[in-house]
Amino acid sequence: MNKEHIDSQISKLEEKYKDSGQDLSSYLDGLLYQRYLTYWDYIHLDTLLSIQVPRTHFPDEEIFIMYHQITELYFKLILHEQKQIVDDKTQDVDFFIEKANRINSYYQVLISSFSVMIKGMQREQFMQYRMALLPASGFQSAQYRMIELYATPLENLVHFSERHNFSSANSIEDLYEHIYWKKGATDVVTGEKTLTLKQFEYRYTPRLIRIANQVKNSTIYHKYQQLPQNSKDNKTLIEALKALDINANVNWPLMHMGSAYRYLTKDNAQIDATGGTNWKEYLPPNFQKVVFFPELYTKQELNNWGKQWVDHIFNPEKV
Ligand code: HEM
Repeated sequence: MNKEHIDSQISKLEEKYKDSGQDLSSYLDGLLYQRYLTYWDYIHLDTLLSIQVPRTHFPDEEIFIMYHQITELYFKLILHEQKQIVDDKTQDVDFFIEKANRINSYYQVLISSFSVMIKGMQREQFMQYRMALLPASGFQSAQYRMIELYATPLENLVHFSERHNFSSANSIEDLYEHIYWKKGATDVVTGEKTLTLKQFEYRYTPRLIRIANQVKNSTIYHKYQQLPQNSKDNKTLIEALKALDINANVNWPLMHMGSAYRYLTKDNAQIDATGGTNWKEYLPPNFQKVVFFPELYTKQELNNWGKQWVDHIFNPEKV
C-alpha cells in the first residue's frame, strides 16, 4: 500500500475530527476493534424475515402478508423520490424527469407483479383467513395516502361528486374532511363511518394534515406548474408525469380491483370487504376520478378517465 497515500488520508481524517472537536486516535481504535460488517447485519435480514406473522394456519396467508409488505416497501421508494422533487429548488427538468421515471418503474413492478395476488392464492383459503384480519384493510395504508398528498393539492383529492365546490381557497382541514376515501368508507344512509376508517383517522390524521400543510405550495403538481414555460412544455417531462398519473390512478387501481373481483364476488354478488366499503362502487378509477395533474389532459380525456381501461377488462364487448 502506498504510504504517502495513507499519510494523506490520515491528515484528512485529522482535519475532519479536529473540526468537530473529536480525537482521531480514539476513532482509529474503534476501527481496529470493530467487527467486519456482514450482509445480513447491513440489511437487517433477520428482522426483515421475522415480520411475516400469519394469524391463521392457512399457508397462503403468508403470501398475502408478504406481498402487502413488498408493496409498502415500493410505496416507500416512491415517496423517497417524491420528497426529492418536492424539496428541489433547482427547477432542473432532467432531475424532475429522472425522478418521475424512477417512480414509474416502481409502479411498473407493482402493476406487473399483482398476479401474485390475483392468481397466486387459493380462494378457499383466502375466504377463511381474511376473517382473522377484520377490520384491517389495505384501505388503511398511510403511505398510499401520503403518495397522493405529495403528488397533488388536496382540492384534487376531494370526492368527485363535490370537487367542483372546492378550491385552494378552502382550508386544509376542510378539504381533508371531504377527501374521496372518507366518503367511500362512510355509510351513505346512516352517515356512520366504518370502524376501518375511524381507526385510520385516529392513528394518522395528525400526520397527514402535517404533510398537507408542509406541501401546501410544493406538491409535485405545484412544482410542475412553477417551472418556466419552456420547461413546462418539455414533452418527455409531460409524458413521464402522465404515465405517473395513470400508473397511480388507473393501472395499479385496476390490477388491485382485479383481485377484489377474483376473491370478493360469488355468483355475481358482492361479498363484504374487510374495510366495509361498497367496493364495486368505490374502487373503479372511472368513479374515483382521482387525477394528480389535471392540466395535462383535455376535457374529453378527463371525462373518460380510466374508462376505456375498465371497459377493456370488465366489458370487453364495449371496446
Ligand atoms: C386478495 C387481495 C386483495 C383484495 C381482495 C383487496 C380488496 C380491497 C378492497 C375490497 C378494498 C376497498 C376497501 C375495503 O372495503 O376494504 C381495498 C382497498 C385498498 N387496498 Fe386492497 N385488496 C387486496 C390486496 C391489496 C394489496 C396487496 C395492497 C397493497 C398494499 C392493497 C392496498 C389497498 C389500498 C391502498 C386500498 C385503498 C384504495 C383506495 O382508497 O382507492 N390491497 N382492497
